[in-house]
Amino acid sequence: MLTKEELQNGLNTFVFGKKIFDYNSIDSTNSCAKMLAGSGAEEGTVVIAEFQTAGRGRLGRVWQSQSGSNLLFSVIIRPKLEINKIGLLPFFAAAGAAQALENVTGSYFECKWPNDILLNGKKSCGILLESSFQHNTLDYAIIGMGVNVNQKEFGGNIKDGVTSLCLEFEKEFDRREVFRQIMISLELLYSDVRTGNFTRAISEWKSRTSIFGKQISINQSGERLQGIAVGLSDDGGLILDTRNGQRICYAGDVTFTNES
Ligand code: BTN
Repeated sequence: MLTKEELQNGLNTFVFGKKIFDYNSIDSTNSCAKMLAGSGAEEGTVVIAEFQTAGRGRLGRVWQSQSGSNLLFSVIIRPKLEINKIGLLPFFAAAGAAQALENVTGSYFECKWPNDILLNGKKSCGILLESSFQHNTLDYAIIGMGVNVNQKEFGGNIKDGVTSLCLEFEKEFDRREVFRQIMISLELLYSDVRTGNFTRAISEWKSRTSIFGKQISINQSGERLQGIAVGLSDDGGLILDTRNGQRICYAGDVTFTNES
């Protein structure tokens, strides 16, 4: 099992990962991090587990991961943000993760809207961001990451379009090193983000996406929107030029289409 001592050994961050709660098995690291944050845990606190019995993904999905093979963790942050900037946090998390994975492997990682990380066109990391508010201001946000590191087989309905570092590079990776690089990359971008400056995070994310200028289709709460992705709004929505004018999307799954 990855222990907090191993993870912290050589970790030279100031905030991210300074406090780590390590578990062999847990329901969900995001749920645990939420409880800790609700009882005052400090910014940068990490909850990490080898296995989750109730791992959650976006849009109410289940996140499955083989025990002891990958990275499953959640980080508590408490940025001083206006409510309308909270939708930008997933871009910060995705940009940081993609940069870190590139540092570890030397290969390019793509950001797929809203917050997936792709390697060779397949999902290698998923991010679930959950926020809590008090009196209309952000109390805390939880960045939950599932990074497919050394898993070699993906079964059932998750095998399509999913990969791991090990499958793509045909070698096992040191999960401690991957974790350390993610903590470092997040902390570097966070120095701006915590005060509401997303310029670097967004430009890093934009440099890693292929969505702009493409004809796409988004399934948003049962409604299918089609159009050309033309940009991000100030509050983190994806701006689509559709037949009926501009629409802004905040959640959903993107597929690339050729229809007009
Ligand atoms: C997605 O792609 O839908 C997001 C997946 C996020 C999974 C991670 S694993 C660690 C953390 N704990 C959870 O329950 N979910 C996130």
